Amino acid sequence: MTHPPAAGEAPIDLLDFTRPAFRRDPYPTYRTLREHTPIARIDRGPIRFSILTRHADVVAVLRDPRMSVDRPFQPKPIAGQDDVDPATLHPLARALRALSRVMLFRDPPDHTRLRGLVNKAFTPRMVESLRPRIQGLVDALLARPLADGGCDLVHDFAEPLPILVIAELLGLPASDRADLKRWSDQLAVMLDGSIAAQHIGGAVQSAVAVIEYLRVHLEAKRAHPQDDLITAMLAAQERDEHLTDDEILGTALIVMGAGHETTTNLIGNGALALLRHPAELARLRAQPGLIETAVDEFLRFDSPVQATSRVPTQDVELFGERFEKGREIALLLGAANHDPAVFPAPERLDLARRDNRHVSFGFGIHFCLGAVLARLEGERAIGSLVARAEKLSLAVPDESLAWRPGWLLRGLTSLPVRF
Ligand code: HEM
Repeated sequence: MTHPPAAGEAPIDLLDFTRPAFRRDPYPTYRTLREHTPIARIDRGPIRFSILTRHADVVAVLRDPRMSVDRPFQPKPIAGQDDVDPATLHPLARALRALSRVMLFRDPPDHTRLRGLVNKAFTPRMVESLRPRIQGLVDALLARPLADGGCDLVHDFAEPLPILVIAELLGLPASDRADLKRWSDQLAVMLDGSIAAQHIGGAVQSAVAVIEYLRVHLEAKRAHPQDDLITAMLAAQERDEHLTDDEILGTALIVMGAGHETTTNLIGNGALALLRHPAELARLRAQPGLIETAVDEFLRFDSPVQATSRVPTQDVELFGERFEKGREIALLLGAANHDPAVFPAPERLDLARRDNRHVSFGFGIHFCLGAVLARLEGERAIGSLVARAEKLSLAVPDESLAWRPGWLLRGLTSLPVRF
């Protein structure tokens, strides 16, 4: 039997991720890539990168210490920068300084130190202590739709919940929710490199506004400590003089940027998966205890984050292929999550799936910091929805559903349902 070559140029139309058919359902394209060109190379003038779609390959790159997250376009820390008083800097320079400290964009040893400090403040115990508050928010958000007999599940439920939870976590006033949502949406644009360049200006403006806003709260909490993540990071700073204000601000910023739209999409995509699989919906209703494995299956089945990337810091040989230093490697998490080598019957939604080794939260040292919180929010949100909305059904034809712009973060713009 002959095998197709693992590496090669993928057909151009396959790689057009803006096609409406791809936006509706990217998984057939991923399958073709995985089966025929699992290591696809793109060489179009200055645009040169590789695309990996097999689970084993994606994991191998994410765990490889020769792979960096320090991509060329990201703000970089400058030696001696910390000695400059932030008050003397232009707001844009202040924002870029904090952005250059975001852990998702740093390699070891900076990443190790930053993540270690946040890990001490953002513990599973702290997340667990949020459980009653999250349930209270879910109940409050469901009250009106239950009375009305339906709602737009994205707009009325999946969007507001994560932003209210993040406000609670960081100790920011819930009354600032509209600003926090606008800023988080814009920050997500910055994380979603697939969005057109014309939107980046708005994202940078938002980064400036949100850093100024967070700076005010940081000073207020330094004067009057509260019971929240920013205060816990300030306490860590007192114990460890290496944690700078910019690093605290960068961490608060990434929590806002990475924890909002992703969780919205987990709830929205998960609810849609149930609506499209009535037998699984009935199964969950009959066995509410399935919710824990169900949330991981929603994450695998239609992943909120479809891809990430890494850059080799040296020429690297992997899977019999050579990856050049500096040439970006796109890792299609959504494709890896449907790899039949790891997931039996990958196109089947199985809420009781065992040994679900999905990579929806990444893998290795940058594994999602908020995974425990995201799972808890997903569990409470979808579990409560299924328990209370006894006749949950789609209120519009399936073909009319629209997906958000951008491709790295996958989620619906709206999901009208009847209860
Ligand atoms: C369903 C929801 C979520 C999904 C699917 C998700 C997905 C991911 C993925 C794939 C990564 C790794 C990216 C990479 O390696 O390049 C990541 C990292 C991260 N996530 Fe999440 N995330 C979610 C929710 C959250 C929440 C709620 C928070 C915070 C409260 C959060 C904070 C972070 C942070 C800070 C990082 C960077 C970790 C590091 O660099 O060490 N995420 N997330």
